[in-house]
Amino acid sequence: MSDISVIANGKRVLADLNALRAIGTYKTGVHKPTFSEAHMRSLVWLTEKLPDAGLTGAIDGIGNVVGTSAKPGPKLLAGSHLESQNHAGWLDGPLGVVYALEAARVINTDPSIPGAVEVAAWCDEEGHFGHFLGSRSYVGLVTDADIDAARDRTGGKSMRDALREVGLAGRARMTASPGRHIGYLEAHIEQGDLLESSGLAVGVVTSIVGIWQYRISFEGEQNHAGTTRMAARKDAGLALAKFCVAIDARFPAACGPRTVWTTGRIALDPGAPSIIPGRAEMLFQIRDDDPAVIGRLEALLHVMAEEATAAGPCRIAVERIRTGAPAKMDPAFQDAIEVASKVLADGKSVRMPSGAGHDAQMLATVMPAGMLFVPSIGGISHHWTENTADADIVRGAQVFVEACRRLLARAV
Ligand code: GLV
Ligand code: MN
Ligand code: MN
Repeated sequence: MSDISVIANGKRVLADLNALRAIGTYKTGVHKPTFSEAHMRSLVWLTEKLPDAGLTGAIDGIGNVVGTSAKPGPKLLAGSHLESQNHAGWLDGPLGVVYALEAARVINTDPSIPGAVEVAAWCDEEGHFGHFLGSRSYVGLVTDADIDAARDRTGGKSMRDALREVGLAGRARMTASPGRHIGYLEAHIEQGDLLESSGLAVGVVTSIVGIWQYRISFEGEQNHAGTTRMAARKDAGLALAKFCVAIDARFPAACGPRTVWTTGRIALDPGAPSIIPGRAEMLFQIRDDDPAVIGRLEALLHVMAEEATAAGPCRIAVERIRTGAPAKMDPAFQDAIEVASKVLADGKSVRMPSGAGHDAQMLATVMPAGMLFVPSIGGISHHWTENTADADIVRGAQVFVEACRRLLARAV
């Protein structure tokens, strides 16, 4: 099985990625929030490409596209997402969808290669309305009530209104058919700098981090910024700033080797220069691939909040608003990517955990899953300057298609 019998068409992969970049272009990246006109046009672009890969599919009731094949033999599900963060990069998501499409075009149309690749674009991986809504819906973890409650984090529009406006209201949502797929394979840019700084071509993902998110609220006393003596103030904004600094001082003793934490949003109320904030709020995120580490840090957050409340002058409350289990990638999928890298990338691969969340962690709840990374220039992502060298994109596509072939061949 070491002979390479299939090869990705690098020019076609680059052309497709650039075609998607031309929809909703923002500087050198894209702006494609979930259910925006540019996102919907990208989904239509994909549905129109499916027949070239022997697939049929349409956009479902939550904005997922899943192309299915009538070819006999084992089926491998592959894909990623087509919406972006606001004003962000062109490869975060589309790379994995286009690699899947390329694998399907090469494998599904060749009767001498057993099995088929089925292509998915999962909606809202970037969490405009929730988190992993499309892939979570596919694995049966999103209720109608979840959709009723979901709102766009930027403009506040309800998800029901958004679905109605883009013509998806009332459409059925596709769900995984037990036993249909041998597993799920996703490619992604690394979004960090390990591969580039080590001169490597491929990351073989071993696990994907869990993401826990918290709303931390600070209650003080709103008052006049000129007349209130410093000693008499209950400044919720200052309490928030001190809490952030305290987290950075105390977390290192309790965290794991690759734990990360981020205060991604701060709001001061009422947020005016002449008013001492009476309330403040921060959105805080912890990521690790070990739930025990996250549990320890969450407990520490509560202790710190109690201590700071006792010390005064503000009251601090910690509320968990999101949990996401970490996922282990399937060993056979890791092996297939590694062997394909030996054949097509001079063995320049490394096994590594993913610090970013990916739809693969949702698919991993119902089937074996694997992920392949390609280098990110400068490790930049979630920014419009995100990029990967064309040669790395093409090599990654070749490794991906070969890994798909190997996974299907071993399932025959
Ligand atoms: C996914 O985009 C993440 O934030 O990890
Ligand atoms: Mn992504
Ligand atoms: Mn992303």
